Order: sequence, then structure tokens, then C-alpha cells
Amino acid sequence: MAEFDYDVLVIGAGPGGYVAAIRAAQLGLKTACVESRETLGGTCLNVGCIPSKALLHASELYEEAVSGKLAKLGVKIDKMSLDLPAMQAQRVDAVKGLTGGIEFLFKKNKIDWIKGLASFTGPNTVDVAGKAVTAKNIIIATGSSVTPLPGVEVDNAGGKIVDSTGGLELDKVPGHMVVIGGGVIGLELGSVWRRVGAKVTVVEYLDQILPGMDGEIRKEANKIFKKQGFEYKLSTKVTGAKVKGKGVVLTVEPAAGGEAETIEADVVLVSIGRRPNTEGLGLDKIGIELNQRGQIETDHDFATKVSGVWAIGDVIPGPMLAHKAEDEGIAVAENIAGLTGIVNHDLIPGVVYTWPEIAGVGLTEEAAKEKGAIKVGKFPMMANSRAKTNHEPDGFVKIIADADTDKVLGVWIIASVAGTMIAQAVQAMEFGASSEDIAYTCHAHPTHSEAIKEAAMAVMGKPIHM
Ligand code: FAD
Ligand code: NAI
Repeated sequence: MAEFDYDVLVIGAGPGGYVAAIRAAQLGLKTACVESRETLGGTCLNVGCIPSKALLHASELYEEAVSGKLAKLGVKIDKMSLDLPAMQAQRVDAVKGLTGGIEFLFKKNKIDWIKGLASFTGPNTVDVAGKAVTAKNIIIATGSSVTPLPGVEVDNAGGKIVDSTGGLELDKVPGHMVVIGGGVIGLELGSVWRRVGAKVTVVEYLDQILPGMDGEIRKEANKIFKKQGFEYKLSTKVTGAKVKGKGVVLTVEPAAGGEAETIEADVVLVSIGRRPNTEGLGLDKIGIELNQRGQIETDHDFATKVSGVWAIGDVIPGPMLAHKAEDEGIAVAENIAGLTGIVNHDLIPGVVYTWPEIAGVGLTEEAAKEKGAIKVGKFPMMANSRAKTNHEPDGFVKIIADADTDKVLGVWIIASVAGTMIAQAVQAMEFGASSEDIAYTCHAHPTHSEAIKEAAMAVMGKPIHM
């Protein structure tokens, strides 16, 4: 009889866990995955990336029609209205299709899905609903949950003070939505509800939205969203929120301290960040401690300090992004199989799926300057023929290169299709490209991507169309 039930047991079937399970099975390892949700796919497929993009896409089309943008292109719609139940139904459909797809892939790769919550009872054993399951290797991929805000109690079922999950499922367009936190979730979900008719106010603790991004990008994004109708209360903290009658009354005060004021809202969205899921995992039973941010520390191979126990995704340090979790899932399975799995954490792209999209990879201008002398090239989307023709003038591409070696250190983009454009920048940087390499690479015309070539030419001071 085999010493263990499985070669690999994965806890959590999000983008980190399900990808790790598939890769492990592909490599010939007997694999199981424990997941407590009704469906596979984790936060990303069930209540994150996918449902938010379903609503972002639909609301984008609605706004194009209702704002007269389509009419300007000769597409006249005489009678149009919002069918929110249909918009929500296509969100549910998108989730169902993709989570079902993971179940199919598990079956195809002969991965056992063990339903329930896993808790360690030893380094090679977890308990799932009273049953012990053993494995030679256990990968922790339990993801993250919304960070709570003291004084602001989330009640998704009530539909008044919600987190991102409740914010995706509203059955009525709020008259006034207050978003607490001007980060990625606040701006994406705020965009959805603003487009279909809500007034949206963003309350942000810091003096600018989108922390962590390039300073110039944050400023420009702020300006563009303001033009679209977003209202901001920057450098402001929320000290409480109470449901009162049909709405919510928030108490806010300057972040630096000062006089409090109240804001009335129909719906409050709490989006102040996420924290790793480690509660109830029984980590104390195997001697794994958490760092100050509540994360599990691993080495470069994703091994924890306990032999045979590995960790990936939102539960370990680094950006909380699905593609980072997926790449770590592949790498950890390869490391377990004795291959060399590597993730280059310096080049994880980030994309905000607003309109226009915002994307970046590598160093911000501020961080690059701290490391040494740099050159910066910028090109506005207004001067890009495709963006101009499509009536998408907002945004720019910015390339930051080392002043001596010309090596590209960072690329930042605001453009309608920035999320697609950034892939070329990541690939170029993976290959150690200089800005000159990008400038002398032929880009198809007319495409938004030509703005990347022009920004690279601008690093040398010689863009053509400016
Ligand atoms: P998760 O996806 O969180 O999966 C962990 C799974 O583990 C969960 O299903 C959970 O039920 C399960 N689990 C936890 N504990 C246990 C246990 N003890 N036993 C059994 N199962 C357990 N990222 C992007 O890159 N692009 C986006 O567009 C994007 N949009 C997002 C939109 C929203 C609204 C949100 C909330 C997040 C978004 N993210 C996005 C972030 C992305 O969802 C996460 O980074 C990603 O899901 C992390 O993957 P993971 O595998 O680490 O964990
Ligand atoms: P976030 O970290 O992006 O933004 C949180 C914001 O809230 C920050 O601007 C922060 O300064 C502010 N904040 C914190 N405490 C506050 C307070 N008390 N009052 C007011 N403001 C406060 O977190 P968010 O938006 O909740 O997203 C969580 C994670 O999900 C992110 O790490 C992100 O990576 C991931 N995600 C990724 C998406 C994408 O890739 N497109 C989409 C949505 C989420």
C-alpha cells in the first residue's frame, strides 16, 4: 500500500490551486484538491475577475449606446433601456460556464475534488469533514478575503453595505454609491454602477487613487475618471457607517484628523484591500507562523519552512493577482516534480479594467529614479491613429529606461486596450529589451500598440507622430 493517499494535495481551487493541481497531474503525480465552495475556480472565477469583467463589458456597451457615442458613429438606437436582470444573468452564465470548465479539466486530468474545508493535523495530513487525507506534498492555495473596516459592517444580503461580492450582485442601480477605497475594486465596480446611472463618490484614505502605480498614471487616471463623473474625497477616512431607513449614513473625517462630516448613500461598497485566508487551517499544528501581514512566507521555490508543505497565490507575499497565482501554481508543481519552476516576480503586470484601461509592469518612475539615472519616453494616445479614429483619445504610454544601458525598467499605459498592450512590454522586458529594441520592432498599423513603439522612440527623443 502506498505511504500516502496522494502525491500532491492542493488546498483551494482558485487560479493558484486549480492550476497547480492540473500541472501536477500532467506531470504524472496522483493529485487531489480540497475546495469548500460549491464550484471550482476560487475568488477569481466565482466572485472576482470573471463576474466583474462580465459586468464591466456589458456596462461599457450600455454607456456607449446611452451616451450617444454609438450615434456619433452612425449607429442609432431609437429606443433603448437597461435590463439589469439580463445583465446580471449573463454575469451568472459567464461564471457558470468557466467554473464548470475547471470541473471538466479536473475530470480530464483525473484530479479528485474533495469537497469541504481542509485543516492540517500534521505536515502530511489534513482533516476534511472528519476524514483524514494524507499526501506527500501539500500546497496551500487558500487565497484571500475582504479586509474588514471597523465601524462599517458588511451585510451583502441586506444590499446596503456590501463588499465586492455584494457589489457584483445588486439588483437595483443605486442612486448614490459611496466606494470606500480608491483601489482596483473600487474603481472597477464603481465604473460599472456609474455607467448604468449611479452617482459614485470614492472616499480614499491617501491623497491619490490607485496606490502602487506610477505617479503620473495615478494623476491622469484621477483626471479621466473625474471627467466621467466620479467624485472623490481624497485624504479622507471613514469612521463609521450605519444603515438608516432606505440608505446608509457614513461618517468621514480628514485622514490627518479634523472635523467629521456625514455622507448619505444608497449603497456603500467596502473595498479597502484583501487579507490572506489562514484562519482554521491548523497552521499552528505544523509550526507555520505568519508574517506581520498575515501571509505565509516561502522560499523562491514556494516551499514553506515545513518540509513537504508549499504555498502560492494570495496567501503568500506579492501582488494579489490571478495570473501571479497561476504562474506560481505551475512553478510549484514543477518544483515538486523535480523540475525547475520559476516566477519572475519583478515582471508581474497589473491591469485595471476601467475605461480606458490602466496597465503597468516593472518599476514606477519614482522607484526607478531612486535606483539610478533614467530616461523617460511618453506618447499620447491622442496622436495614435487607431485610438484617434476610434474616438479613444484619453491616455498615454510611458516607457522608463536605464539612462546608461537603455534597458527598459518599466512600462505604464492608459489606453482603451492597455491590458492587451502590456503583454508585449512584459515579454520585451523578460528578454531584457532596450527601448531601442522596441523602437526598431515593426508594429502593425493601425494599432494602439504603435503607441508603445512611439514611446520607445520618444526615449531617444525621436517619436515620428508628435
Ligand atoms: P482564491 O482565488 O481566493 O482561491 C482560494 C480558494 O480556496 C477559495 O475558493 C476558497 O474557498 C478555498 N479555501 C480557502 N480555505 C480553504 C480551506 N481551508 N479548505 C478548502 N478550501 C479552502 N485578479 C486579476 O489578476 N485580475 C482581475 O481582473 C481580478 N479581478 C478581481 C475582482 C474582484 C472583485 C476580486 C475580489 C478579486 C479580483 N482579482 C483579480 C484577484 C484574484 O481574484 C485573486 O488574486 C486570485 O483569485 C487569487 O487566487 P488564489 O488561488 O490565490 O486564491
Ligand atoms: P486595493 O489595495 O487595490 O485598494 C484599496 C484602497 O483602499 C487603497 O487605495 C487604500 O489606500 C484604500 N484604503 C485602505 N483603507 C482605507 C480606509 N480605511 N478608508 C479609505 N480608504 C482606504 O484593494 P481592493 O481594491 O480592495 O482590491 C483587493 C485586491 O484585489 C487588490 O490587491 C487587487 O490586486 C485585486 N484585484 C485585482 C483586480 C485586477 O487585477 N484588475 C481587480 C480587482 C481586485
